[in-house]
Amino acid sequence: MTILVTGGAGFIGSNFVLDWLAGSDEPVVNIDKLTYAGNLENLASLQGDGRHIFVKADIGDYAVVLDLLKKDKIRAVVNFAAESHVDRSIHGPEDFIQTNILGSFRLLEAVRCYWNGLDEPDKQAFRLLHVSTDEVYGSLEKTDPQFSETHQYRPNSPYSASKAASDHLVRAYHHTYGLPVLTTNCSNNYGPYHFPEKLIPLCIQNALMGKALPIYGDGQQIRDWLYVKDHCSAIRRVLAAGQVGEVYNVGGWNEKANLEVVHTLCNMLDELKPRADGKSYAEQITYVTDRPGHDRRYAIDATKLQLELGWKPAETFDTGIRKTVQWYLEHQSWVNNVLSGDYQSWLEKNYAGREA
Ligand code: NAD
Ligand code: DAU
Repeated sequence: MTILVTGGAGFIGSNFVLDWLAGSDEPVVNIDKLTYAGNLENLASLQGDGRHIFVKADIGDYAVVLDLLKKDKIRAVVNFAAESHVDRSIHGPEDFIQTNILGSFRLLEAVRCYWNGLDEPDKQAFRLLHVSTDEVYGSLEKTDPQFSETHQYRPNSPYSASKAASDHLVRAYHHTYGLPVLTTNCSNNYGPYHFPEKLIPLCIQNALMGKALPIYGDGQQIRDWLYVKDHCSAIRRVLAAGQVGEVYNVGGWNEKANLEVVHTLCNMLDELKPRADGKSYAEQITYVTDRPGHDRRYAIDATKLQLELGWKPAETFDTGIRKTVQWYLEHQSWVNNVLSGDYQSWLEKNYAGREA
């Protein structure tokens, strides 16, 4: 048996592939387009490992995907591939529509064609797990209950709208064609291989480089943080035991305001890698112009996943964030390879002229 993972050279996908092959000998076919966010260095430890077959391809390439599904007799697909950064979706939504909507649609079509051709037992056993986000539910007020699986979809950014569209397509392919799908909607992840355009790795790296730690608006926006390996274990659990057609929210019960997260990072760096001048990294915190349409609060109610499938996260925020900061300190060469020309032009585009 073999599984097919899409977007497996990105942050969560590569963690998933590494964890999967650490715990199982079932091979993984990994399709990734290698956009700016895809990085084969994340998978360097699998070089020469016959259980990992990497294919540089677009999920929107129907013929390639169908061919791989048939050739490798895939028994499950886990779809991570997406454009994932909200700020980039504000600067340029088109790639998000292409990959997250059209790409997901073509992937679904290839999977549907393959699945239709399977014999009955394989058809029954087959699964497509679509990895989605809590952002599709929109924004919460401070005292609102957390997002449950039945919360109304109210996406607010081009990114979340494109993810919402893909979730609807996945749902429709189950309802209309009977495709055996599962959907997970997860909160903010953090951990190893996180691309340093996102808040946590950006602030760790900027701190170490003596640069500003940019806080959008008042920094009181709340996100619900989950260590990436806990997200991976949730996906494995849902893939193994989730009920076909169901949606599972994934979260770590770790709601934190952005400013608190950045102060935690500064305190940890003060302890693990003190500044040469003896001052705190917190001195580098800088308030900048807010993100347009910035969602105020996300919070996930993961009770269904816990009660029905017995999943719970292994890390607290304190243990996960310490592991993360340590990982970045120990993997500065990985970061330096990522800080290429393209990355520099993104920083210029997003942050120049933003300082408040
Ligand atoms: P990422 O941006 O780090 O990685 C995305 C990967 O997909 C990259 O390797 C990229 O090359 C690949 N990709 C992009 N377009 C592609 C295409 N058309 N065909 C094939 N590959 C393509 O993203 P991530 O943070 O690892 O997120 C993975 C998935 O999890 C996404 O679907 C995202 O919406 C979802 N998610 C992310 C978070 C989070 O906090 N990062 C939380 C919840 C859900
Ligand atoms: O909630 C799940 C989502 O989490 C995923 O679906 C997305 O793929 C992922 O990117 C993430 O989205 P966010 O927009 O929440 O993550 P980001 O790290 O970009 O921002 C986290 C918070 O920090 C958010 O409120 C914006 C703020 N922020 C971000 C950056 C990059 C800043 O204040 N300054 C910054 O420079």
